[in-house]
Amino acid sequence: MTFRRTKIVATLGPSSNSPEVLEQLILAGLDVARLNFSHGTPDEHKARAKLVRDLAAKHGRHVALLGDLQGPKIRIAKFTNKRIELAVGDTFTFSTSHPLTEGTQQIVGIDYPDLVKDCGVGDELLLDDGRVVMRVESATGDALHCSVLIGGPLSDHKGINRRGGGLTAPALTEKDKADIKLAAEMDLDYLAVSFPRDASDMEYARQLRDESGGTAWLVAKIERAEAVADDETLDGLIRASDAVMVARGDLGVEIGDAELVGIQKKIIQHARTHNKAVITATQMMESMIQNPMPTRAEVSDVANAVLDYTDAVMLSAESAAGAYPLEAVQAMARICAGAEKHPTSKTSKHRMGERFQRCDESIALAAMYTANHFPGVKAIIALTESGYTPLIMSRIRSSVPIYAFSPHRGTQARAAMFRGVYPVPFDPAELPPEQVSQAAVDELLKRGVVEPGDWVILTKGDSYHTIGGTNGMKILHVGEALI
Ligand code: G6P
Repeated sequence: MTFRRTKIVATLGPSSNSPEVLEQLILAGLDVARLNFSHGTPDEHKARAKLVRDLAAKHGRHVALLGDLQGPKIRIAKFTNKRIELAVGDTFTFSTSHPLTEGTQQIVGIDYPDLVKDCGVGDELLLDDGRVVMRVESATGDALHCSVLIGGPLSDHKGINRRGGGLTAPALTEKDKADIKLAAEMDLDYLAVSFPRDASDMEYARQLRDESGGTAWLVAKIERAEAVADDETLDGLIRASDAVMVARGDLGVEIGDAELVGIQKKIIQHARTHNKAVITATQMMESMIQNPMPTRAEVSDVANAVLDYTDAVMLSAESAAGAYPLEAVQAMARICAGAEKHPTSKTSKHRMGERFQRCDESIALAAMYTANHFPGVKAIIALTESGYTPLIMSRIRSSVPIYAFSPHRGTQARAAMFRGVYPVPFDPAELPPEQVSQAAVDELLKRGVVEPGDWVILTKGDSYHTIGGTNGMKILHVGEALI
C-alpha cells in the first residue's frame, strides 16, 4: 500500500465553508485546515473548527486546525472613491496625518506612525504585493513623497512593503493577542505568527500562548527580508518555533522573486535539520482560483516543493475563495504523490557527519536508518505523547510510513501535518506491558498496511506518557507472537 506522504493545508473561506464542500475536501485528502484570522468573527471560526472536527471524526480522519494570526501587515488607508489608477511618473504621497478615509489621486493616509522613520529617499515601496511600485523622492516629518515606477490600480487597504524589508512594526498586534486567546479557547493544533522579525517575536508569542492556556504548536511565517538576511537570524527564528511556513507572498515582494526559489530551499532544509516541520505556501495553484486545472508551471512548483522535502503544501485563495476548491486539493494530492515517486524522495543521507543532541533523537534516527536499509520493514510505529518522536523520524527521507500512535487528540491532529506520518489513536497505558507490541502491530494488520512476514519497527520509552522519553526500538516480525 502506498500513501501520499506530503500533507495538504487548505485555507477555509467562502468557497469551502459549507459542510458539503468541506466533507469533500476531507475525503480528497485535506490534512490541515487553515483558519485565517484576518477575516471572520470568533463565532464563525468556532463554527468552522467544529465542523472540521466533526466531519473528520465521521470519516476516521485526522485533520489539524491551524489558526493564522493577521499580524502587523502595514496597509494604506481608504480612498474617497475606493480606488485610483496610477501611471508611471505620477507623484504620490503617503501621509501619517492625512484623514484615513479621504485618499485622493495624489495622497493617501497610512496608520503607521513609524513609516517616515523607517523609510528614506531612494527606497522602493511595493503596494498590493508588488503590483504597484514607487520610489521615495523626498520625506517630511509626516509624509513620504514618491514617484510611480510601475503603475496600476490602487484601492482601499492595500498592503505596503519596503524592498529589502525594514518596516519595524512589532509582530503581535492587539488583535493578534486577542486571537491567541481565541486559539486557546478553540484548542487549535497550530498557530501561525505573521511577520516575526526574529526569535524574540516567537518567544513572546509562546509566552502569550502559555498564559492563555493554549497548546497549539507555533508556526513562524517567514515573510520578512530581515528574517532571511543571515543564517543566524533564520536559524534563531526556526529554533524558537515548532514549525515554519515559507510565506512566499510578502517574502517574494521584499526580497524579489529571483531570490525566492533559493531561499525556499534553504528554509526547508534548515527547518528539517532543526527537527521542525515546514509548510510551503502562497500561489501554489493560483490559476485554479478560476480554472479546474493547474498550469504546468504550478504543477512544477508543487512538485519542486515536494522534492525539496517540505512537510506540507498549502492552498490559500484557491480553496478559500476560488471556484474549484475540491479540484485544487485533488490536483495537489495527485502531484505530491507523483513527485514522491522520484528517487530523491526516498534516499536519505541520514545526517552523516552530524552529532545527535538527545536520546530520543538518536533512537528516532536509528529507526530510520534501519527502516531504509532492512528490506522487509513495511512500517514504523512511534509511541508518542506530543508527536515529537515521529516528527524527528520524518525529518529523514524514506518510503516507509511512520505511524504516530498516541492517545491524545491534539497529538493525532498535529502529527497529520508531518511528512510521511499517519496518526493512530492508541493508549499503551490501557494494556499490560507485554501486550503493547502485539496490540500495536494488530492495529496495522487491521488497516491492511502490513501482513504476516513483514517487519515493523516500534519505538517507545521505559514509562508511558513521558515526553522526550523514547529510549528504545524493537524490530518486530509480523505473524510471530510478539511481546
Ligand atoms: C509514549 C510512550 C513513551 C514515550 C513517549 C514519547 O507516551 O509510551 O514510552 O516516552 O511516547 O513521547 P514524545 O512526545 O517524546 O514522542
